Amino acid sequence: MKFKHLKITYHQHSALVLIDRPKKLNALHRETLSEISQALEELIQEHRVRVILISGAGDKAFVAGADIAEFSDFNAAQGEELSKSGHEMVFDAIANCPKPIIAAINGYALGGGLELAMAAHIRIASDQAMMGLPEVSLGLIPGYGGTQRLPKLIGKGRALEMICTAGMIDAQKAAAWGLVNRVVPHATLVEVCLNLAAKIAQNSSSAIALAIDAVNASDTPEGFAVEIENFGRCFDTQDFTEGTQAFLHKKKPKFN
Ligand code: CAA
Repeated sequence: MKFKHLKITYHQHSALVLIDRPKKLNALHRETLSEISQALEELIQEHRVRVILISGAGDKAFVAGADIAEFSDFNAAQGEELSKSGHEMVFDAIANCPKPIIAAINGYALGGGLELAMAAHIRIASDQAMMGLPEVSLGLIPGYGGTQRLPKLIGKGRALEMICTAGMIDAQKAAAWGLVNRVVPHATLVEVCLNLAAKIAQNSSSAIALAIDAVNASDTPEGFAVEIENFGRCFDTQDFTEGTQAFLHKKKPKFN
């Protein structure tokens, strides 16, 4: 896999995808979005990768948003298409990825950058991270899922405060509001995320994929039905046999 705007490194059972446009604070332009989409497709197929980490290159930004220079002359139809294609190609693909995705928020996560982190399954922030949805300061609204995912994570009142003020919150407030799982010292961010990934990687990847699917369905009226169906599907997997037999024989399971 060779990319122009991403750097991918492998660490035991996980892959770290670094969005690599630091001079533009890792802003998401079309090429970067397309590469993220392609990288995800490839990492899903790679058996050795059980967990995916996403972070931003440089010390300053995770991702400072969609690339403003790229859409500044768009009309309504082009704006709608930008949002729709982004959702389909990247943000839904992240949320629905069968492998857990951890956003390691190392700096500014603004607009599309915070939306990228919110599409991920788990968010860990550096103590230097700043988060916000500044779109209304540009005459826009969040277009990569921010109006839908932020209220679910922090509640409607706080979400509207963040969106309507276009202001930023620091990592501590983000943790207190439930926007990130925890805050860690900046220098330890990747290490903490890799340790978390290693812990996840010990468990059944087929069960984890079905759990992600069921948790995602909690946003829909079919949530309980999906849980019931996916619970049943686990019983047909090798991992179920391995996990239960290992328990009954007082051994550690070895999942494929
Ligand atoms: N798009 C394009 N370029 C961006 C960018 C963005 N979102 N964010 C930063 N950059 C560029 C700057 O233009 C600058 O480029 P040049 O050096 O070539 O001029 C470079 O990155 C460094 O940025 P600054 O000089 O502005 O750095 P700073 O430290 O002074 O400020 C910042 C940092 C507060 C994050 C500021 O860059 C900023 O406000 N960025 C924009 C944040 C934003 O509005 N994001 C939302 C985008 S819209 C969106 O995401 C829509 C959606 O929901 C789909």
